Amino acid sequence: MKQESLFDPVPESSGTNGPAMPNLDDLCRVTIGCRQCRLSQTRKNVVFGEGNPEAGVFVIGEAPGADEDAQGRPFVGRSGQLLDKILLAIGFEREEVYIGNIVKCRPPENRNPLGDEIECCKPWLMQQLRIVKPKIVLLLGRVAANTILGNNLSMGAMRGSIIRWDQFDCVVTYHPAALLRNPNWKKPCWEDVQMLRAHYDKVCPKG
Ligand code: URA
Repeated sequence: MKQESLFDPVPESSGTNGPAMPNLDDLCRVTIGCRQCRLSQTRKNVVFGEGNPEAGVFVIGEAPGADEDAQGRPFVGRSGQLLDKILLAIGFEREEVYIGNIVKCRPPENRNPLGDEIECCKPWLMQQLRIVKPKIVLLLGRVAANTILGNNLSMGAMRGSIIRWDQFDCVVTYHPAALLRNPNWKKPCWEDVQMLRAHYDKVCPKG
């Protein structure tokens, strides 16, 4: 039986939040009005995501923190500064990639997003992936990786190799916030992102 894919045509009423949107601006307009879960009651801003709409690399974090909630932009606090450095170290300007999160509204006290919040929010992210069509998805941390890959594996079991999911090649590495807490993870993270870069150069060779 043919496996369903994000790239299959989407019927008007799909499992996603309403009809498939033709572009990121339209999707953003609808997403910022979302009130489907409790996080909408405490957020200041929906953090839709940003970056190159034709990016070869789509970076997925967990959830906005206080800085992101205040500015409505992903990864702009301390973790974001580290993410920018990590990307630069492998030759990507932040603007070259696309950056999003598993949930688009800040969980109170920066707790992990709950299962029902993730389920409500995931379809928006799936539509973003469908529109951007990256070759590579970089999954930051266990929440992002478990959610996208649909497993409950540890970081150790997921990082270190390219994992095919739907039409994407996924790389799993430590979340920048975890690296700030535990610098011992910087070396394995460096290996992961170097692997990503080498793969990118193979699958997205320069024009
Ligand atoms: N941590 C995340 O996972 N995402 C952000 O946007 C900021 C911090």
